[in-house]
Amino acid sequence: MSTNPAPNLLTQLVTFFDDFAPHYDEWAHGFHRKAAERLVALAHPTPGEHALDVGCGTGLVTRALAHNVGRRGSVVGVDVTPGMLEVARQKTPANVQYLYMPGERLIFRDAAFDLVTMGLALAYFVDARAALAEAHRVLRSGGRLAVSCQRRALATDAQEEFFEILDRMRVDHPFMRLPRHDDERGSLGEPEVLTRQLYEVGFDEVKIATMVTGGRPKNAHEWVELMKGAGPLPYSLLSTMGPASRRRLEGELDEVMGRLDEDAFRFHIAVTFALGYRD
Ligand SMILES: C[S@@+](CC[C@H](N)C(=O)[O-])C[C@H]1O[C@@H](n2cnc3c(N)ncnc32)[C@H](O)[C@@H]1O
Repeated sequence: MSTNPAPNLLTQLVTFFDDFAPHYDEWAHGFHRKAAERLVALAHPTPGEHALDVGCGTGLVTRALAHNVGRRGSVVGVDVTPGMLEVARQKTPANVQYLYMPGERLIFRDAAFDLVTMGLALAYFVDARAALAEAHRVLRSGGRLAVSCQRRALATDAQEEFFEILDRMRVDHPFMRLPRHDDERGSLGEPEVLTRQLYEVGFDEVKIATMVTGGRPKNAHEWVELMKGAGPLPYSLLSTMGPASRRRLEGELDEVMGRLDEDAFRFHIAVTFALGYRD
């Protein structure tokens, strides 16, 4: 009997971001826009600076950087998902260049940039530590890295329940053979973990900020549609469901959420921001 080969993490990730690219900027009441604005405010780009935006996606952070560094400055945005880069390139300011490149292997000389940003990308990298070390290498002395990362530990009871159901679905359907990042990855957005990661690759004077936002879809159908955008694993499971499985899932959700009273269908999205300096 032949089985489908398991996609590797990178294939699963690129498939997700390729499909999700047209909806990315507006997902969850514009959560990605808000997070990008906060990251750029923390990074504080100034006119004439040269910046690199790693995991630039649709360019939300890249364009804001470009506006701030102005015509004397420049921004390079790099990413590995063609669909995200395609959306980004639809609005390319004159001082921006987008390149297909993994954050773990940057093709830039040492000390080439004043500022590196990584908006909500760290937890998706195949090797997060290598990407941080590369950011450190391409920054000049005194240059800075601004990172944002989702903080999973602040999930609501409704999210916990939902992800338990998804986990069960993954185990019950071994033919789907979906890869997932190790659990350590889920803690990257905890302030103490992110701080430690930055110090360990050589950054100094690390400062942390946080943001919590959220919402409450009206019903199980809206909830499932929203959660498709929550990451490659929920996307792979939810977008391949037939109508009968989908009805069963929504029924189970209605039942579980019914027990949570006013916390039914409530979700949080929390983000940790970190700024570190290179010696
Ligand atoms: C959640 S999006 C963030 C997009 C943008 N930085 C923002 O703040 O809105 C994560 C992005 O990281 C990219 N990515 C994932 N792994 C990567 C890697 N190894 N190297 C470069 N980009 C990567 C994905 O393709 C995706 O576009």
